[in-house]
Amino acid sequence: MSDLADMKERLERFGHEAVERIHQADSLQSLEQLRIRYLGKKGALTEMLKGVGRLPAEERPLIGSAVNRLKHELAEALRERESLLQVRLEEERIAAERIDVTLPGRRHPRGAVHPVQKGLDEMTAIFQQLGFLVAEGPEVEDEFHNFDALNIPPEHPARAMHDTFFFADGHLLRTHTSPVQIRTMQSMVKRGEEPPLAVVAPGRVFRCDYDMTHSPMFHQVEVFQVDRKLSMAHLKGVLSFFLSSYFGRDLPIRLRPSYFPFTEPSAEVDIGCVFCEGKGCRVCKQTGWLEVLGSGMIHPNVLKAVGIDHRRYSGFAFGLGVERLVMLKHGIPDLRLFFENDVRFLRRMGA
Ligand code: FA5
Ligand code: MG
Repeated sequence: MSDLADMKERLERFGHEAVERIHQADSLQSLEQLRIRYLGKKGALTEMLKGVGRLPAEERPLIGSAVNRLKHELAEALRERESLLQVRLEEERIAAERIDVTLPGRRHPRGAVHPVQKGLDEMTAIFQQLGFLVAEGPEVEDEFHNFDALNIPPEHPARAMHDTFFFADGHLLRTHTSPVQIRTMQSMVKRGEEPPLAVVAPGRVFRCDYDMTHSPMFHQVEVFQVDRKLSMAHLKGVLSFFLSSYFGRDLPIRLRPSYFPFTEPSAEVDIGCVFCEGKGCRVCKQTGWLEVLGSGMIHPNVLKAVGIDHRRYSGFAFGLGVERLVMLKHGIPDLRLFFENDVRFLRRMGA
């Protein structure tokens, strides 16, 4: 076999092999490596073309054009393979992103309003329905609004009964919503206005207290009205309207004479224990009753403290324990359940 024929055969074999490799390349990266190997600056074909220069003159055109043809052939094979790989890549991406619309949807657990918040909203709405305006006050209070202006002077034993959380600077976490009475009456007077005034003030309060019916953080709804000639009869009227609206049925109710420095006379309201039907149990501490609110006629000293003429005006006020009422309405025996955030409890109670 002549050298020329031999060379052409080797060239052909090389070409077959290279095309085969290109067809087998299974990624754009390995294809790029083949391109560099064959057609790159230092690639096999470039080297071959250089070699052509060293051939005898009569062989050069033949081998030269064969190498050139091979070069084009490989370039074409690379292009073909590249577009094929790109199509395949695109198909894989589409397959991976495919959504099976026949699969069942993913369910998200549905949130709900916390039972205490729900109770608070329901109670507030009942008073709004009667025309009471909603007011709020700060949870961090000072002694003046939480105590002094409510006729509880510094040495008064009622201060000790409130189990107050104090801050180092003399501020405190309000122990009840009654300071909102002071704040709303003060700002009414400041605006140069006179009663009538009818307010409902829902909010969070704090006491150092903890058992089945006491929690260190709980909620109250403060309700009060100031006008000419208001009496205990108005208080009882608003109260009984509220209780029958909230419970949607009549529960045994007891007004018990009591004492608050900021009301005179004062009464606490108990509801017959729903857990033992009044026979006495752990929840009601064997009394058959659960205390749900404190109430009374606003003390003249309180009206004086905010600058309202106590000879012209009188008022009634009460403060509801929200958790207690929700417990009675839904038969929840332990108030601490509200704050443990056990989802099984919250789900059952969910609004
Ligand atoms: C007061 O807080 C008075 N400010 C209520 C008031 C307002 C009287 C206006 C007169 C005029 P008392 O401390 O009793 O009162 O609390 C009111 C209600 O809050 C109680 O009847 C009870 O239902 C609830 N309560 C009291 N302490 C706790 C506690 N630690 N956890 C849950 N509820 C409580
Ligand atoms: Mg009480």
